[in-house]
Amino acid sequence: MVEKKNISISIDGPSASGKSTIAKILAKRLGYIYIDTGAMYRAFTLACLNNDINCEDEKASCSLIGKIEIGFNDLNHVTLNGIDVENEIRKNNVADNVSYIASYKDIRLDLVNQQRKLAENNNVIMDGRDIGTYVLPNANVKIFQIADVKERARRRYLENLEKGIQTTYEECLANLEKRDYIDSHRSFSPLKPAIDSIEINTTNLGINEVSNMIIALLKERGIVTKNEQ
Ligand code: CDP
Repeated sequence: MVEKKNISISIDGPSASGKSTIAKILAKRLGYIYIDTGAMYRAFTLACLNNDINCEDEKASCSLIGKIEIGFNDLNHVTLNGIDVENEIRKNNVADNVSYIASYKDIRLDLVNQQRKLAENNNVIMDGRDIGTYVLPNANVKIFQIADVKERARRRYLENLEKGIQTTYEECLANLEKRDYIDSHRSFSPLKPAIDSIEINTTNLGINEVSNMIIALLKERGIVTKNEQ
């Protein structure tokens, strides 16, 4: 019998372009594992802040490599040293610092190593910035999801309101613009579309429209059958 290879789907794109919403829906529909790589960079950032490390200091930030443990629990929430930090990592102090942490090569290599291991033994949907270009270059389908920055700021503002995180629309916009800049200008593994990725602009699209578009693509490529959707 020929062994069936694991399927991997990458969704990359700038902050608040709707990647995690779509990835969660697809993972549920297809029975795949969803891996939120941004949550891992956020958890690393939280560890630095908890240890009074200035996240703009590369050497001090990298000193935590190997000393902290980042993973996912049964609820698929990110954990730091075994503690569920899913809510804490969404707060402003983490959002303000995460792009510095994510620009450090040694931290990236450490987390990418874990991300690749997770994809080795499972069918996965992984979202991030460099999944199609670097983490899983052989992903079966690569999506690059974008949206107008004002629409992204509006979505993030509403998301924060819902989570009880105090921010203004202007603060969200400024944070997204700053992170977009740092994420796409860093030297190692910057945010950019893989050459074989498919771009979806979600500015004027609903959640169902986007997930149906991706399912249609998976069917077209023979990756899922009618029964599997
Ligand atoms: O949820 P949001 O779109 O705001 O961001 P996220 O996916 O939680 O990622 C937070 C930050 O982690 C990004 O702004 C990047 O700096 C970094 N990141 C990255 O560099 N590479 C990834 N694969 C995922 C996230």
